[in-house]
Amino acid sequence: MSQSTPAARPWPYPCWIAHRGAGKLAPENTMAAFRLGAEHGFAMFECDVKLSADGEPFLLHDADLNRTTNGQGLAGVQSWDALSRLDAGSWHGRTYAGEPLLRLEALSRWLQALGLMVNLELKPTPGEEWRTGRVVAEQVARLWAQAHVKPLMSSFSVEALRAVQQTQPALPRALLLERWAPDAVRLAIDLGCLAVVVHHLELDAERIRSAHEAGLKVLSYTVNEASRASTLWLSGLDGLITDRVDTFEPQARLGANPARLMLTAELMMA
Ligand code: G3P
Ligand code: MG
Repeated sequence: MSQSTPAARPWPYPCWIAHRGAGKLAPENTMAAFRLGAEHGFAMFECDVKLSADGEPFLLHDADLNRTTNGQGLAGVQSWDALSRLDAGSWHGRTYAGEPLLRLEALSRWLQALGLMVNLELKPTPGEEWRTGRVVAEQVARLWAQAHVKPLMSSFSVEALRAVQQTQPALPRALLLERWAPDAVRLAIDLGCLAVVVHHLELDAERIRSAHEAGLKVLSYTVNEASRASTLWLSGLDGLITDRVDTFEPQARLGANPARLMLTAELMMA
């Protein structure tokens, strides 16, 4: 029997995903953010992963340290030892002063202890795409070896996803798309992806249908308005990444029809 098609493979993920842990409500990609997202009822989180100079996978969105830490310059040229001493919370506010950068290994322990899921967005330092995909895939396979649900590995970088595909082909993958391109679905299939994760302004029912027909799930980022979320659910969306862990909190715990739940939320807010 040949390798199973994406359509035949399971999709175990919840439909609500908290962006960078808890959106903008806590310092992104830190433990404080994941704790807050979980307190709001989210069972799955998106976060951004890159490598330190000595090959430690850790969480940071930007290539440099300037915006979200008290460090300066390119993060990927520093050792994990140096990075681990930085303050990644003070930029957000006094409440989070001293919050450190987070290693993927530490996040993995916390997530699995609580039975929570994750979408790891590979955000390689420029020039480090292949190495990032390979090293993170190897670590994820080891850390989640006993888990029934593996992390969903996504990236805008085709090279990083290709490295995951070659290193750990069984890890679930998704292609990130800032723009919908006519050949995007074909590329995602070629990369062995289960899903595409698309900027919400690029999606409509027709595009969602075409991806579904090819056996792909469709997720969207970053959806923060109830009305936009509602439209997308009704168009057949499978998963939604949001900053608004506070707004969408009541729905996050529920496994019921997301389109219906969104409409209820809109009525409640009217
Ligand atoms: O993974 C979805 C989303 O996080 C992609 O954009 O810039 O927020 O990492 P960005
Ligand atoms: Mg991201």
